[in-house]
Amino acid sequence: MTGKTIVLGISGGIAAYKAATLCSRLVSWGAQVRVIMTDGAARFVTPLTLQTLSRHPVATDVFDERDPSVVQHIDWADAADLVIVAPATANVIGKMAAGIADDMLSTTLLATTAPIVVAPAMNVHMWEHPAVVDNVLKLASRGVRFVEPGTGQLACGYVGKGRLAEPEEIAEAAASLLAGPRLLAGLKIVVTAGGTVERIDPVRYVTNDSSGKMGFALAETAREYGAEVTLICARTDERPPGGVNVVRVESAADMFDEVTKRLGDADVIVKAAAVADYRPLVRHDTKMKKDGETLTVEFVRNPDILQAIGDWKAAHPDGKAPFTIGFAAETGDLEKYAMDKLKRKKCDLIVANDVSLPGAGFGTDTNIASVYAPEGLVESIPLSAKRWVAERIWQLAAERMKQA
Ligand code: CTP
Repeated sequence: MTGKTIVLGISGGIAAYKAATLCSRLVSWGAQVRVIMTDGAARFVTPLTLQTLSRHPVATDVFDERDPSVVQHIDWADAADLVIVAPATANVIGKMAAGIADDMLSTTLLATTAPIVVAPAMNVHMWEHPAVVDNVLKLASRGVRFVEPGTGQLACGYVGKGRLAEPEEIAEAAASLLAGPRLLAGLKIVVTAGGTVERIDPVRYVTNDSSGKMGFALAETAREYGAEVTLICARTDERPPGGVNVVRVESAADMFDEVTKRLGDADVIVKAAAVADYRPLVRHDTKMKKDGETLTVEFVRNPDILQAIGDWKAAHPDGKAPFTIGFAAETGDLEKYAMDKLKRKKCDLIVANDVSLPGAGFGTDTNIASVYAPEGLVESIPLSAKRWVAERIWQLAAERMKQA
């Protein structure tokens, strides 16, 4: 964190005292920490404590302009490499979601373009209130990274979810956001995304709900981490990220061809696409005409692309086996299905999500994922923007490739 400026916003909850530990951890890792406290926070912990730990004056009042050459909230918003809000009350989360700027912290949060990490802390019923749930989803879809509260004894007397994450965990999340941009430099990465289209005739087809957003986030972040990225893209309404080589395909068979011809060259293959398991047996060349009261379309199995990659890896033990990352969208028994797919298709990692959970389904901007490796669960990624989920997947993959 040396040379990085972190704005630490503290809002008014009892967990404000833990922000002192967080502040001193960030300072000990080399960050320049600028602390903003709300009035509520200053009732729990004195600004002098945070001033002493950060070795800088603490800002509490947006109108307390000490340096006439700058406007302080803009100056701090611009200087920040990262903003952390810990603890974040339901109130400050609500203000962020609504774009309200009525004090030093909320004004700085609105003015900054730096990444934001939010560590909420509140009563369990407040955390579960639909208003708070909506606000968290809204912020996560805008790219705010959440460090979810823990479960345990709460200061209000309840036992439940709402306890501020440990300062160590918040500091780690901040460090991973500030991690070096060359994590995947020199690697050739193939990412598949979108839902395949299996045609019945020239105007009709079978597809699925995949939006392509997760694959696009993976392609974009891989490029930012320095990789040379090919994005093999089936049906999607989203615009693919810039700076990557986009190959458009329609069906599972087309995708199979585009992926398999890159075996031996690609260092990493990510199968984020939702590939249809079946295609119509007959593809009519002309538009089908109505005939009878019912219509039966016979389907046949599509090739399994990930399985083909796994088989290629097994057949080429000394070849240039790509590191493979599969996906498993499930509606229950996540671990069982994910581990079965990982073993069958010889993946290095599999990213599983329960698409029945709010914020984790197809088409959302957020995801909740469990990442499995051959030895089992390696990480549970809480509700986060697909972009952050993508970054975390790359960090895990890069670590494992390095070990290998
Ligand atoms: N996959 C693939 N080719 C297929 C089907 C799936 O490459 N024909 C990939 C997907 O892109 C994903 C992984 O395999 O990365 C798991 O897909 P999924 O459909 O969940 O797995 P299946 O083995 O088809 O299992 P299920 O019976 O649940 O559909």
